[in-house]
Amino acid sequence: MPDLRGKRILLGITGSIAAYKAAEWLRSLVKEEADVTVVMTEAAERFVSPLTFAALSGHPVHRDLFDEAPERVMAHINLSREADAILVAPATAQTIARLAHGMADNLLCAAILAARVPVVVCPAMNTFMLRHPATEDNIRRLQSFGYRIVQPDSGELACGESGDGRLADWDAAREALLSLFQPDDLTGMRVLVTAGPTREPLDPARFLSNRSSGRMGFALARAARRRGASVALVTGPVQLPDPPGIEVVRVTTAAEMRQAVLDRASAADVVVKSAAVADFRSAAPADHKIKKTQHSGRIDLVKNSDILAELGANRFPGQILVGFAAESRDHVGEGQRKLREKNADLMVVNDILGARTGFDVETNQVTLIDCRGAVALPLLSKEETADRIWDRVARLRHEQSGTEKG
Ligand code: CTP
Repeated sequence: MPDLRGKRILLGITGSIAAYKAAEWLRSLVKEEADVTVVMTEAAERFVSPLTFAALSGHPVHRDLFDEAPERVMAHINLSREADAILVAPATAQTIARLAHGMADNLLCAAILAARVPVVVCPAMNTFMLRHPATEDNIRRLQSFGYRIVQPDSGELACGESGDGRLADWDAAREALLSLFQPDDLTGMRVLVTAGPTREPLDPARFLSNRSSGRMGFALARAARRRGASVALVTGPVQLPDPPGIEVVRVTTAAEMRQAVLDRASAADVVVKSAAVADFRSAAPADHKIKKTQHSGRIDLVKNSDILAELGANRFPGQILVGFAAESRDHVGEGQRKLREKNADLMVVNDILGARTGFDVETNQVTLIDCRGAVALPLLSKEETADRIWDRVARLRHEQSGTEKG
């Protein structure tokens, strides 16, 4: 599972009210067994005590360019040399301006100027400061240096105003950090992923559905984003938060999923249909709650359209289609049949009867089936499984582009 274990992170904290949130972020990093060294600016210390960060990180907090122990006089150089990545959170307009102009007048900015490791910057400030052309220019400059910007959220700000500028969620910063340690081999690829179950209403209170949790599809969407793809995720009803940096479309029924997918499919280089789409819906959903005394006990069903088969029939040259099949027997045979019938490039098949595979568990054991044959992957986390599926898709793309050229 991609994580930050063992990664050496230099956490730079600057003088924003959001500095208190950095304590939570630090806790999350330490929990994940990252090795975190904290540098605070003078203004940051006005908001939160260095003691908090020293206690949470287990290391002294670095503060002053000129106040280091003799053996650490070159702290600004050493700090960045001893890190795998630098995370500046929260980053004020002032620090962003300093970094944009290569200033080295405090320990954090000097360390970043001397750095040869990736830098992730998480701005947090008042909306008008953020939207000022000076700040916007400065942020663009940081991007041109290759620094990653974790865009701030919109919402209520500490100053009482509402708008853009609130420090992003830890999830977004974590994804940005994780992506630093991943290949960016999907850069430029436009990916559409579907996830979760669909719900087919019987009446206003009841529906037909299945046990899909959406975890596999969400893991696929996150993994593709980390590896550089631009990702849209169409999901049925699930208990999972929107992954950062991804266009998320929430739908309920198979018909809504079909529409959302068809609207976006022509702009997708790869479509991964990991959703467990209901095959049937009620022929006549009731407008009012069905009463047991008035019901025959039979429900007439009609077939939903097969979205993957529709995509398979209308695909454009070079588009890659990946289907999933959750089976309880003859996995490989069923996978091969669906690969053929739906005109897909790859089927990911799993056993829904296994205790650690399939629905609503953290792990999965899948078999990848394409026109060349079947390869069984070991039992892996859904995140690792997602990366193995993308490895295969990247290979398929590579082979296709080779064929086109040849
Ligand atoms: N699928 C779809 N639209 C449907 C049903 C399935 O797009 N109406 C897609 C799923 O997202 C999945 C693949 O088809 O990628 C296989 O789904 P599955 O339910 O296993 O296949 P079915 O065709 O429904 O086959 P069966 O009911 O015979 O198992």
